[in-house]
Amino acid sequence: MAEQPRNGGSSQSRALNGKVTVVGAGFYGSTTALRLAEYDVFETVVLTDIVEGKPEGLALDINQSRPIEGFETKVVGVGGGSYEGTEGSDVVVVTAGVPRKPGMSRMDLIETNAGIVRQVAENVARTSPDAVVIVVSNPLDEMTALAQLATGFPKQRVMGQAGMLDTARFSHFVAEELGVPVASVRTLTLGSHGDTMVPVPSRCTVDSKPLADVLAADRIEDLVTRTRNGGAEVVALLKTGSAYYAPSAAAARMAKAVIEDSGAVMPVCTWVDGEYDISGVYLGVEAEIGREGVRRVVQGDLTESELAGLREAAEAVRAKQADVADL
Ligand code: NAI
Ligand code: 2OP
Repeated sequence: MAEQPRNGGSSQSRALNGKVTVVGAGFYGSTTALRLAEYDVFETVVLTDIVEGKPEGLALDINQSRPIEGFETKVVGVGGGSYEGTEGSDVVVVTAGVPRKPGMSRMDLIETNAGIVRQVAENVARTSPDAVVIVVSNPLDEMTALAQLATGFPKQRVMGQAGMLDTARFSHFVAEELGVPVASVRTLTLGSHGDTMVPVPSRCTVDSKPLADVLAADRIEDLVTRTRNGGAEVVALLKTGSAYYAPSAAAARMAKAVIEDSGAVMPVCTWVDGEYDISGVYLGVEAEIGREGVRRVVQGDLTESELAGLREAAEAVRAKQADVADL
């Protein structure tokens, strides 16, 4: 007898809900579309790109895995820069843009990606005016601010993905260092997706014990540095392109929290307006995610030096975000 689907091939399907569009069918976008489809919570995942045929081909390929993986979500590919089929999306994940090459910083991408993100954001505003937008294109903090400007959406409906990824990298490094399951480790990074990323060791635990009790300060500092350079480490190994497995896991989890209206608290790039005495800037902080995007910023306890790092990050990205209107 042939191998049966993972979900048993039952005729009873679970209730699927809503539409998510992933703009950009490159490495980040295609893996995000696959993860979203495999969650089996959305009715439709639309994958789009300016390239003709690529999203259509990837969608067909993913759909053909449905009987094996046992999910009912359908993936639709739309190429040629068209937005037909994306209309009325509940969530839009923006991955369109160029990735880094070895030696490049995320900021080196700003002019090219600003043109792309502005154009994508205007199309999203026209076709999916009620969507929650999750931006991943780099430089992340600036592209998130630009997407909000170009869509004109309320700020809580436009957020960026970085903190989930940076936190996951930090947790992975701690688990490897201590030889413990990743499930035992809780870490947190705030601030920007870049040089002013702010790892928060005071909020990190291993089996509920403070990280500082189980790992020497100099080793924590080494892992913080490796986390801060986590993206560049992968770029240097790949030689072309940047990371996408961990990044797509992060963005897909955010989209799932939106459609499920879960209230999950995650580190995301969102509009900060008074929390930590910081105002008027898109910055990585913890936030409660629901159907309307960011329900609220969750302000946690930080040490004085972590707070100073967060304020420094806010000033660094504020200066750059002020310029995005002209890009
Ligand atoms: P990629 O080069 O594999 O894919 C980018 C795709 O965007 C290409 O298929 C391209 O045709 C498409 N595209 C370009 N202009 C477009 C437009 N106007 N409309 C629709 N599609 C368009 O790059 P990859 O690896 O998928 O990375 C995408 C972006 O994500 C990059 O900017 C990268 O730096 C960023 N990134 C962000 C991370 C984060 O944590 N926020 C982590 C990893 C990557
Ligand atoms: C990363 O952190 C390049 O932003 C991308 O992997």
